Amino acid sequence: MLDTAYDLERARLRDSSNPFIRFADLLPVRDAVLFPDDVEYTPCVHAKRLGAQVGLEHLYLKDETHLPTGTTKYRSAVIVLSLMLESGVRRFASASTGNAGTAYAYVLQTKPFSSIEMHLFVGEKFRDHCHYGDAPNIRVFALRGGTFEAAAAASGAYASQLGLVRDAGFFNPGKREGAKLAFFEATDQIEAPIDWYVQATSSGLGVDGTYKGAQELLALSHIDRLPRLLCVQEDTCAPQVRAWEEGCKAIEPRHVVQQPQGIAWAIHRGDPTGAYPYMRAKVEKSNGAYCAVSESEIRSAQASVKEHEGIDICFNAAAAVAGTMKEARRGTISPRETVLVNLTGNFRSPETETKAVTWLERRDGAWTSDDNTIRIPY
Ligand SMILES: Cc1ncc(COP(=O)(O)O)c(C=O)c1O
Repeated sequence: MLDTAYDLERARLRDSSNPFIRFADLLPVRDAVLFPDDVEYTPCVHAKRLGAQVGLEHLYLKDETHLPTGTTKYRSAVIVLSLMLESGVRRFASASTGNAGTAYAYVLQTKPFSSIEMHLFVGEKFRDHCHYGDAPNIRVFALRGGTFEAAAAASGAYASQLGLVRDAGFFNPGKREGAKLAFFEATDQIEAPIDWYVQATSSGLGVDGTYKGAQELLALSHIDRLPRLLCVQEDTCAPQVRAWEEGCKAIEPRHVVQQPQGIAWAIHRGDPTGAYPYMRAKVEKSNGAYCAVSESEIRSAQASVKEHEGIDICFNAAAAVAGTMKEARRGTISPRETVLVNLTGNFRSPETETKAVTWLERRDGAWTSDDNTIRIPY
């Protein structure tokens, strides 16, 4: 499955405070019974004091830290796993920088999803950011010295070896469809039309899904314009920003970051070759922009959000705030425009750390487990 389309002639928004129910006609799940019944809209804060710092009157923060597992990835996990259940998928392999995998692990422990088995691959430095993995239907594999890219490749090869369904990341439509819900909710929470949607970008599935969703809401006359998209990356791992700045339609080898360093680790996708052409087309169509921010800009944005709005956010979410402030100062975003920044997550407490992990080492051209039962060529 590549993408989803809805019958927009018949779709309608329902009267519910549960976003999965309210927007059910624009989600690719047939049976709404699968949706969690205890989820409410996340807060959307009019950040007057933070906005005043850079002269933005209508700056709104979508506080996704309130979701189970503390990140926006929870929304995608619910949609992907519901789709799997409805399509008869019972085993899948995935790769994550921590938040998506954690959200899957959490949802997989709720009924009716415990009948699905996940095999999750992570690079070494992400191992401590994967939580809730201690359940019989979850296996976590950590690649010694491996990056996110290596984990994604290994999860694909492993899925083929064992005949599992592969979670294709950006190219998993369930992930993109779930991600649009933050913007959907905000259209009910902010009276004015939203001029800009800002999000920290790894592959960009959150931004991509949001733009598609905005087109659907426009078709239903729920909104009257599409938002401009602002994608923010950390300058130490900003392949999409570099390609955009050079006017390239595709990622070139020189844009790829082999060993990402920095603090916004969850958005460190060094090689977004597959996703970028789609992202670029959407950002261009929206008359949007890409922006890279430094560690000190991220830290200062994080401190400002805490000081002015009292919200604790992780460095990834703070990158989006830093990018907003930078583009406001540059004049890309003008003072009277309405800006929605997705605060995609917070730091989870280490107490919930994944307990059992199978380590894989590079040996003779394959990621290999200690007991040699797993060998995944790379
Ligand atoms: C906290 C947080 N923000 C933003 C992102 C960006 O994700 P994407 O670019 O795939 O939408 C991620 C991805 O893992 C994340 O964990």
